[in-house]
Amino acid sequence: MATPSSTRLDLDGNPIKPLTICMIGAGGFIGSHLCEKLMSETAHKVLAFDVYNDKIKHLLELETLPWNGRIQFHRLNIKRDSRLEGLIKMADLVINLAAICTPADYNTRPLDTIYSNFIDALPVVKYCSETNKRLIHFYTCEVYGKTIGSFLPKDSPLRQDPAYYVLKDDVSPCIFGSIEKQRWSYACAKQLIERLLKSGKVQQESLWDSRI
Ligand SMILES: NC(=O)c1ccc[n+]([C@@H]2O[C@H](COP(=O)([O-])OP(=O)(O)OC[C@H]3O[C@@H](n4cnc5c(N)ncnc54)[C@H](O)[C@@H]3O)[C@@H](O)[C@H]2O)c1
Repeated sequence: MATPSSTRLDLDGNPIKPLTICMIGAGGFIGSHLCEKLMSETAHKVLAFDVYNDKIKHLLELETLPWNGRIQFHRLNIKRDSRLEGLIKMADLVINLAAICTPADYNTRPLDTIYSNFIDALPVVKYCSETNKRLIHFYTCEVYGKTIGSFLPKDSPLRQDPAYYVLKDDVSPCIFGSIEKQRWSYACAKQLIERLLKSGKVQQESLWDSRI
């Protein structure tokens, strides 16, 4: 792994000040890799929150690791933990990765999926808004639903046109399946939190400037 560089520069050529990053869902697939990258290639500090830490144990265990002290794990369920607000206050940047996002769960646990991707994210959005913290909230291409091409009648000549299979941010219409199909619970919940973040109306003067 590369060693953290003390001379990382922003796009204007100015040195980047080390941040304290509150990463929720840090023990998951994306979070664990992001923690590895942040530890090995930056000087940022990470407050890592999750209910599991198996995937980041190797970053936490050895006191001899060069980033010793720059990553702290907090076993915390954002559904019910009064520490969340205080920990968010300590951060310069919040990254929310916590979600139920496994396709098998959309069909079998639609309610949990909706809670996880919408209701449970609300306190994070609220605390970031109240304390004016920058929030990076992960979304998904699922919010686009189906392509127009896949929705066209089977014998439509338009099905041959590649343009009908392109999904473009902020332009493509959103075509979901029927309410009967629980498979769309994830996409709908993700789209709703996305709309809330985009509205900027939950709290005035808040920062909702990022999504991934
Ligand atoms: N992995 C992908 O290919 C992909 C694609 C598109 C979008 N995303 C989005 O990126 C984000 C992260 O995805 P991932 O693949 O790393 O998922 P993941 O399931 O690997 O990680 C999510 C983590 O969140 C934690 N978590 C869930 N609920 C929690 C709670 N209530 N309190 C604390 N921790 C909780 C889980 O324990 C898990 O470690 C999600 O929002 C997902 O929708 C991922």
